[in-house]
Amino acid sequence: MRKPVILITGANGEIGHGLIEHFSNQDRHDIVALDLRPVDDRIAAANLTSIQGDILDDNVMQRIVSEFEIHVIYHLAAMLSTRSEYAPDIAHNVNGTLNLIKLAHEQARWHGNPVRFLFPSSIAAYGMPDLAAKADAGRVREDAWNNPTTMYGCNKLYCEQIGRYYSTHFRQLAADRTPSGVDFRSLRFPGLISAVTLPAGGTSDYASEMVHAAAQGQPYACFVRESSRIPFMAMPDAIKALKLLSEVDESALQQRTYNVGSFSVSAGEIRDHVMRAFPKAEITFVPDKPRNRIVDSWPADVDDSAATRDWNWKPDYDAHRAFSEYLAPTISEFYKPRT
Ligand code: SER
Repeated sequence: MRKPVILITGANGEIGHGLIEHFSNQDRHDIVALDLRPVDDRIAAANLTSIQGDILDDNVMQRIVSEFEIHVIYHLAAMLSTRSEYAPDIAHNVNGTLNLIKLAHEQARWHGNPVRFLFPSSIAAYGMPDLAAKADAGRVREDAWNNPTTMYGCNKLYCEQIGRYYSTHFRQLAADRTPSGVDFRSLRFPGLISAVTLPAGGTSDYASEMVHAAAQGQPYACFVRESSRIPFMAMPDAIKALKLLSEVDESALQQRTYNVGSFSVSAGEIRDHVMRAFPKAEITFVPDKPRNRIVDSWPADVDDSAATRDWNWKPDYDAHRAFSEYLAPTISEFYKPRT
């Protein structure tokens, strides 16, 4: 018999760390963690099988399904926005997502139950043409301003659509039309800030980099203007959102992609929060124009009322609480010299 499992791709990333920690505290689920690199020892847990490999490699994927029966997929693997701009060809990852959606479809046929497919999308799916439009737009709804300016954002938007297609329109012209068995659910996350991992190659990374540098007593030159504003979220709220969305009954979902918001802050306000926690921090602003343009194209805030309506979304952390109760204490502990 194959073992029922949750499959997590991109397990080594920031969300992967948080999610696996969450599941390992529960020990109700067996997890298969897939990543291009060996899965970090820090996230190894008793109920976890780590596999090093690529979702584009059929041999790896076939080996997984020969051993495991997949009921839930968290498809976290992706190259973040800045890095994707340097290598747009390999950043174009929609085939990997499509492979996994097809795998979910096949698995649902094998075991006869829908496969929940959780997909982290991003504020990068939006593209605001200029700062005046950004200021006017305020909190943007999921269906507005869908003109991403990055390869990363284009991928996210396309994968949201392909997931929605498989969940609601698959084989719409077939005489024997049956549901695909793929229950796709996607979250448009703001910039995420974790106390225990640093993102790599993103454009919202300045917030994480600022606070991690301060905790280590290192100076930091922020690559966007003080006035640059986008929404952010502390990692525990990102895990909470994934948990809530993964648990809600499919009949409650009026859409397949949801904004989730937490707090909207400028880079200068992040500096102020960091200075309160680490008064000796040395933070300067040395904007990198092209990267700043990407941040300028993302909305200042998101309208997440659909998530609240359909699955009771509410963040636990506003900016003050995120910095004073989660980031500052956890990061200080993280960098404390080990004796
Ligand atoms: N954090 C991502 C990035 O900066 C956006 O979702 O690429």
